[in-house]
Amino acid sequence: MKNIIIFGAPGSGKGTYSDAIVERYGMGHISTGDVLRAEIKNETELGKVAQGYISNGQLIPDDLMIDILAKTYDAQPAGKGVIFDGFPRTIAQAEALKKMLAERGHEMGVMVELVVEEDILMARLLNRAKEQGRADDNEETIKKRFAVYQNQTAPLIDWFEREGIRHTFRWADTPNKEAMIESIFAFLDTVK
Ligand code: AP5
Ligand code: MG
Repeated sequence: MKNIIIFGAPGSGKGTYSDAIVERYGMGHISTGDVLRAEIKNETELGKVAQGYISNGQLIPDDLMIDILAKTYDAQPAGKGVIFDGFPRTIAQAEALKKMLAERGHEMGVMVELVVEEDILMARLLNRAKEQGRADDNEETIKKRFAVYQNQTAPLIDWFEREGIRHTFRWADTPNKEAMIESIFAFLDTVK
């Protein structure tokens, strides 16, 4: 399987659909949010730095993230393809990802963009707050995460468009989780 970049606002389903894709295609999965939360849990130096940014809904500085991403990528099994979930989130990260992969003779593959209305995203994340208690799932921080997404991450959509690898899936067109997974699979089956 080619590499996949799964892209969307907080709560759009990056983690949920990544799990389904991994189960079907048996590829690697790098969630930078999960990597950072594990560092916080283990009280590492990186975790201490990351905590302040995450709890405030802000992005960790690009140079740190790019370094973490390369190390995490190199630890993945070779040849199966990887889903990048939550990376890149800035133009600098996207340029760095492209370069890092090119240096290894690899390609970005395809970008799967998830588009979901903001009121639905808010409801999902507040619901998850009750079930899982993620530190950044409270209304104030979620609003900051939405603003960061709009200001720093959404400009990347045009970048992917120019790369010719953007494929958009809109919740409004298929407001059913299983049907959404099926339509993503139908697309991925064509790009193997
Ligand atoms: P990260 O962990 O990536 O969080 P996020 O982007 O805010 O997204 P979420 O994980 O909250 O949502 P998701 O899109 O994965 O949706 P999910 O499938 O869980 O990043 C957290 C923080 O880490 C950032 O704010 C930043 O500080 C830092 N960080 C991470 N990467 C970084 C980077 N590259 N650079 C700098 N900083 C970085 O779904 C959400 C919920 O909805 C779930 O409970 C799910 O079960 C539910 N749900 C309900 N209905 C559906 C449905 N139909 N489809 C999918 N999910 C559904
Ligand atoms: Mg996630």
